[in-house]
Amino acid sequence: MKNIAIFASGSGSNFQAISEAVQAGHIEANISLLVCDQPGAYVIERARTAKIPSFVFRAKDYQNKEDYEKEIALLLRNRNVEWIVLAGYMRLIGPTLLKQYEGRIVNIHPSLLPNFPGKDAIGQALAAGAQWTGVTIHYVDAGMDTGPIIAQERTRLEANETRESLQQKIQAIEHKLYPSILQMLLTIGDVKHDEKTRAY
Ligand code: GRF
Repeated sequence: MKNIAIFASGSGSNFQAISEAVQAGHIEANISLLVCDQPGAYVIERARTAKIPSFVFRAKDYQNKEDYEKEIALLLRNRNVEWIVLAGYMRLIGPTLLKQYEGRIVNIHPSLLPNFPGKDAIGQALAAGAQWTGVTIHYVDAGMDTGPIIAQERTRLEANETRESLQQKIQAIEHKLYPSILQMLLTIGDVKHDEKTRAY
């Protein structure tokens, strides 16, 4: 089973959904570590309850991104972490982690990228009067929500849509889509195809 680390900065409802899917055997992986840059975040409580270790840091205690990412990279290496799963982590990933985990960092974003990247994607969709928005899961590169797209699911904005109602719909999609896509990504490399028998 592969080891994954989840990076989060806030409430951690996606962390929770992933952790429950792991518990239920729907994702064949171990969550080795929560990485959190906000010492007061509720996600830390969720990790404690789930008995998942966490590394909590303050960016301002380090000289720069390279310094804290080096520390994180070492923790991940020591735990044989193979994938980084971003779930509401409000920082750009820098070259230190990008190099070590190239092609093995994924993120979830609450819009149909490339529409509404960056902060408050739900508010952006409402303000733009969009008819549709949704959820995107994508590989992470150096940009802000710019990496190659893996999966998307859409939802319609109703005439009386509020921020709360839209957020609820988006989260319901996220909590199903992220676990199922993670299971696919984590196991896809395990499928062996026998050229002679054409069997898997
Ligand atoms: C989610 O909407 C996710 O798409 C975005 O940040 C939010 C995190 O929510 N990147 P939570 O902390 O998982 O509840």
